[in-house]
Amino acid sequence: MKSTDFFTLANGVTIPAIGFGTWQIPSGDIAYNSVKEALKAGYRHIDTAQAYGNEASVGQAIIDSGIARSEIFVTSKLPAEIKSYDQAVRHIQFTMTKIGLDYIDLYLIHAPWPWDKIGADYTKENIEVWRAMEEFYKSGKTRSIGISNFSVKDIDAILDNSRVRPMVNQIKLHIGHPQEEITDHCRKNGILVEGYSPLATGRLLDSKELAAMAEKYGKSVAQISIRYVLQKGALPLPKSTHPEYIRQNIDIDFEITADEMSYLDTLSAAQPRPWE
Ligand code: A2P
Repeated sequence: MKSTDFFTLANGVTIPAIGFGTWQIPSGDIAYNSVKEALKAGYRHIDTAQAYGNEASVGQAIIDSGIARSEIFVTSKLPAEIKSYDQAVRHIQFTMTKIGLDYIDLYLIHAPWPWDKIGADYTKENIEVWRAMEEFYKSGKTRSIGISNFSVKDIDAILDNSRVRPMVNQIKLHIGHPQEEITDHCRKNGILVEGYSPLATGRLLDSKELAAMAEKYGKSVAQISIRYVLQKGALPLPKSTHPEYIRQNIDIDFEITADEMSYLDTLSAAQPRPWE
C-alpha cells in the first residue's frame, strides 16, 4: 500500500492511507502552520479532537489551504469524559462550531472511559453516547463514525447495541505494541484500525535495532516505524510540528520484507516514560 492509497470503510467511504495527527500540537500558529505544512507535503487526512483544543486552528488551515474540501478527510473526537446522550449532542455541536466546516469525515468517541478513570466500566454510558453518534451520522454532518481506545469487550458492547456499526477504532499501535487481539477483532468485524503514536511518542527513535534496519533501507527510524503500521494493515497517524519531519513521515512508499516484519514483531518497545 502507498501513502496516496485509500482504505475503504464499511459504509464505502474512502479514507487516505496515512493521516496527520495533531495531538499535543498547541492551537494557534503552531497547529495552523503544522496542518498547512502537512497539506503542502501531500497529506489529505488530518486527525484532531475536541480534547486537543486545536479544532479551530486545524479547521482554519484546511479552509485557507485552497484545496477542495472533498479532497481532505477530517477526523475529530468526542471528549472521553462525555458519557451521556445530552452532553454528547451538545459537544458534537461544539466540534462543528469550532472546526468551522460544513461537515466532517469521521467522528470518534475518544475513549471508553474518562481519562481519570481508565479501565472503569462505562458500557451503559457508551451505548447511550453511541445513539448520539448514530444520529450525527444520519444527519449527514459526519460521513462516518467510530471509536478510539476501545478494547474487545468495549467494541462488542457497541456492536451488540448499535444500528450503525463503528467503522473505525483508533488505538495506540507501534513496534513493540502491535495490539494483535484488538486488531484481529476489528478486522473480523469490518472495523478499520488506525494507529496513533506510531513512533511510541518518540521512544522508538533511540532504538539501535531500528537504526540498523533504517540504514539498510536508506530510510529513517521514523519512516520504518510508520511503514510498519501500514504493513500491519492499520492506518498510521504520525504527528510532528517540524516541516522536515512532516515531509519525511509521508515519504513511506517502500516495502519492508515479510521476514523483517516478523523480526519487527519480536521487538519490544522501551517502557513509556512516566508522563506517557
Ligand atoms: P515534533 O512534534 O517535535 O516534531 P508519535 O507520532 O509516536 O506520537 O511521535 C511524535 C514525536 O516524534 C514528536 O515528539 C515528534 O517531534 C517526533 N517526531 C515525529 N516525526 C519525527 C521524525 N521524522 N524524526 C524524528 N522525530 C520525529
